[in-house]
Amino acid sequence: MFPINCWYVAAYAHEVTNDAPYPCQVADNKIILYRDENNQVVAMADRCCHRLAPLSLGRIEGSDIRCMYHGIKFGSDGACVAVPGQKHVPKSFCIQTFAVEERHQWVWVWIGDRNHPDLSLLPDVQGQDPEIYGIQKDAIDYNANYQLLNDNLCDLSHVAFVHENTLGANAGKDDWALSKPDIENLPRGLRFTRWFSNQSAGKGFDAGDQRFDMWIKSEYLIPGILLMNSHIYPTGVAAQFDFGEPQGIKPLSSVWNTQAVTPKDEKTMRYFYCLGIPHNEPTYGLHGNFDIMNVAFSEDKRMIEAQQKVIEENPTARLATTSHDKAIVYFRKLIQKASL
Ligand code: FES
Ligand SMILES: [Fe+2]
Repeated sequence: MFPINCWYVAAYAHEVTNDAPYPCQVADNKIILYRDENNQVVAMADRCCHRLAPLSLGRIEGSDIRCMYHGIKFGSDGACVAVPGQKHVPKSFCIQTFAVEERHQWVWVWIGDRNHPDLSLLPDVQGQDPEIYGIQKDAIDYNANYQLLNDNLCDLSHVAFVHENTLGANAGKDDWALSKPDIENLPRGLRFTRWFSNQSAGKGFDAGDQRFDMWIKSEYLIPGILLMNSHIYPTGVAAQFDFGEPQGIKPLSSVWNTQAVTPKDEKTMRYFYCLGIPHNEPTYGLHGNFDIMNVAFSEDKRMIEAQQKVIEENPTARLATTSHDKAIVYFRKLIQKASL
């Protein structure tokens, strides 16, 4: 089940070049990405229409791609432009192409109606502009259904347990599970807001024993895009705003966590994650926090891949829900609706 008429992150922009086709898989579609002569990204099916050899083994020639089995060449619009050894170029020889958009250092592929890609549905990603932010980024592949990772990111109560020695390793780590964020349902996702008050900054920060109030505001949008903005304030600010949204007060420091969950097929996915810290703010060693994030995301992977196996072994077992699962239930409904 994959949302259609939806933008998916297929790759980081720097991974797509004009040297060689970049193979990826998005919602059951095997795709190649490459740059044409104008540096525009091209997305097309990884399948030659002749004998179905993969175009990912092909060669980029200017704006065209040549299948390196029998040498048939296709333009960036997918139409055949040359067949070695014959003059006739059949009109039916063509490769499916996908609408594609390069934005926020990601390459987004539109899965759905090819002729009506809706740019207004591209999430407004912040924190990934290198002029403004110091950015660290990576990606990992999972052997699990992508909805399990969406569940994980819609319910951060697991931080207290899965990440007890990494992301949750600060003085108030139990708060992740013992209290809940405020949740607002959006047409294409959810908005979460919450305070952590009088906390030590946690592992990866360089703030010694200093204590802070932290305001976290995030959105989680289909098919699995996390836009999380965390602000650190001196203690007392949470109470000053009656634990509501802080207005007109500059944080000591802030950080964007932007992530994208992209299903490859029903049992595999790719997880992109970035950390963006404004150049002009004190970082409290936050850049070191990326190392902790890498460890933490391997903790999630270990749990979720093991969960996937148990689910496969018990296909008829029903899931139970707690009050923490409210966001998961809503998000799964949105995915289901968008997949019809
Ligand atoms: S399979 Fe591509 S040219 Fe023959
Ligand atoms: Fe996690």
